Amino acid sequence: MVIYDSSKRVFKLDTENTSYVMGVTEEGYLGNIYYGKKADTTDLMYAMRIDEHPFTPAKLPGEKIGFMDRFPSEYPFDGTGDFHGNCINIRNHKGQEGLELKVQSHNIYTGKRKINGMPSARGEGTMSLDIVLSDKAVGAEVILTYTVYEECDIITRSARAVNVSDKEFYITKALSACLNLETDVSDILSLHGSWARERHIQRSKINYGSYVIESLRGEPGHQDHPFIALLSENCNKESGDVYAMNLVYSGNFIARVQKDQFDRVRASIGINPEHFCWKLEGGQEFEMPEVIMQYTCKGTNGMTNNFHNFFRKYILPPRWTDAERPVLINNWEATYFDFNDDKLVQIAEEASKLGIEMLVMDDGWFGHRNLDNSSLGDWYVNEEKIKGGLKKLVDRVNALGMKFGIWFEPEMISPDSDLYREHPEWALALDGREPGLCRTQYVLDFSRHEVVDYIYSRLYEILKSANIEYVKWDMNRPLAEAASLSLPADRQGEVLHRHVLALYELQERLVTDFPDLLLENCSGGGARFDAGMLYYSPQIWCSDNADPVERLMIQEGTHLIYPLSTTGTHVADSPNHVNGRVTPFDTRADVALTGTFGYELDVTRIAEEERNLIPAQIEKYKKYRHLVQTGDYYRIASFRENGRYDSYMVVSKDKDKAVLIYVQVVTDSNVLTKKLKLYGLAPDKKYNIDGVEYLGSTLMNVGYIMKPLRGDFQSVVVEINPAE
Ligand code: GLA
Repeated sequence: MVIYDSSKRVFKLDTENTSYVMGVTEEGYLGNIYYGKKADTTDLMYAMRIDEHPFTPAKLPGEKIGFMDRFPSEYPFDGTGDFHGNCINIRNHKGQEGLELKVQSHNIYTGKRKINGMPSARGEGTMSLDIVLSDKAVGAEVILTYTVYEECDIITRSARAVNVSDKEFYITKALSACLNLETDVSDILSLHGSWARERHIQRSKINYGSYVIESLRGEPGHQDHPFIALLSENCNKESGDVYAMNLVYSGNFIARVQKDQFDRVRASIGINPEHFCWKLEGGQEFEMPEVIMQYTCKGTNGMTNNFHNFFRKYILPPRWTDAERPVLINNWEATYFDFNDDKLVQIAEEASKLGIEMLVMDDGWFGHRNLDNSSLGDWYVNEEKIKGGLKKLVDRVNALGMKFGIWFEPEMISPDSDLYREHPEWALALDGREPGLCRTQYVLDFSRHEVVDYIYSRLYEILKSANIEYVKWDMNRPLAEAASLSLPADRQGEVLHRHVLALYELQERLVTDFPDLLLENCSGGGARFDAGMLYYSPQIWCSDNADPVERLMIQEGTHLIYPLSTTGTHVADSPNHVNGRVTPFDTRADVALTGTFGYELDVTRIAEEERNLIPAQIEKYKKYRHLVQTGDYYRIASFRENGRYDSYMVVSKDKDKAVLIYVQVVTDSNVLTKKLKLYGLAPDKKYNIDGVEYLGSTLMNVGYIMKPLRGDFQSVVVEINPAE
């Protein structure tokens, strides 16, 4: 529900359990008033506190600069007295900076406007509010859009800047949203990591000054994540305040938290202003990516449930949200570049007997690529490896009753490629300098439309040439020296954002032309696992590290925001190829159960005893596949926090069934077994676990006593059924 109370000059956006409130001052400035538990009135202007007079004069008419310094601006602008981390800055054609945005009009409507050229949440059943802010002197308008997703307790926000003058101007900063909080938030929850250990959870204290999470890599990267949550000090899994923002964007981002002189906390998020400058001609507009925002008083599990419900209903491609995903086998860790058609068919033959449903041919099937040092861009089948061509191979795999999937890295070009020899100007490069290498490759200049069209035509041809039902879209290096040889000087600051827009355009074309294609994104593992990519691909390869212990931490962080069905989780070799850890085969499978299950090993070469375990592992996965995909996920215990064990569960929406996963990472001697308090069950329902009946409230309040396990890296999957 969205209300504008004109007598109070107050906007109120209500979800089922929360309210977000803004007010317009007499002068027309838009301020943030409140975000939190549902407010029953619009009589809230007092909470903007513009009548207060501490040492700095704040009330208008008076001194504007003093006022701006204190005003809780809803969409703060640079250069006119608001000295905090602002959202927008514009340099006009005279080179001057400074904006003063005032409310011009607003519009409340049902449904939602789609953001042009970028992914955004779908809007069925929603209500939206547009507030038009304007600066007449600059000739700029900014339209703030809010959409209310009542049942998920989520509000999405985005902004677009319009040049309403007849002169060009330059947007040098364009963040999507900002939150001003006066409440007692004390902690920041964020995700950080590196290659092979993505998205570990980090909780830090908010202090005076600024805390910045950002990426300058042209993608979110392994290191940081376009998400931030502010927590009350007492916030834990079950209760406490959480204010979260997640950016639907797959490029450079910034999330900043700032605690000011009045102990107020401002959090903002959007495209990173570094290496960014967008020229806007008169009449043009610039769209900023969407932010998914929520408040909950139900702790981090409450935040997770809201995000999961929201992603499933409004972001993931509807074709795939509830559709069963095939159990796949990927040949990367099985063969690396050393394979041919017969080797792949051998793997597929063995895999099909074990119940695996799809073979994915990874890197190395095109050009003359036998190592990672050539051929990106030459998307032609290497017939020395795949004799008789792709169709023949795919037909052989299909004849075994298996689907076929293929790997691409469309955004890249190898210096050793026919494409580069023909078009050296198609790589991003600083004028007069050899582009820098990373994984022996350059990045294509996607600000050139002919490049994007050419790459799409190659993907299209390959996909049309055989019955290919899955694509793994990879991206294996960051963008640097992001300059285009084709753009004019005053548009070079657009290259990184143009790359992201072209990426979205390509994926949109792909899923439109091939509506049944299952697309899995990937970026050196999980460097581009974000809400933007999930709009096109229902699953993303979570990490190049499939070691189950590392995966506990990666998956804990990933599942904090994203539904289990979005995470590519595979069983790989032991010792693990990245960290050498030796773990039991079944533990690897149990940890991979809460994702899109698959194998990343050579089934023809693993030990007989392990191979024999595969059919039962697949059966187990299939048994819980639907529950994992549709149920509510709850974190019970975290190995990251306790250093010993990890546990989480999924409960069906009707609360009839659940599955509990427990991993004993480190064994202890002569201790009591763990008593776990479960979540999400119906308190008065009776459940059956291994023939014993429990009341839901008993399992949640008193707890469930885990079976004793012997040894490190042991796991159990506990099935919770309704009692007869
Ligand atoms: C990246 C991916 C891997 C694999 C290789 C191939 O590292 O994350 O899964 O596809 O590229 O080069």
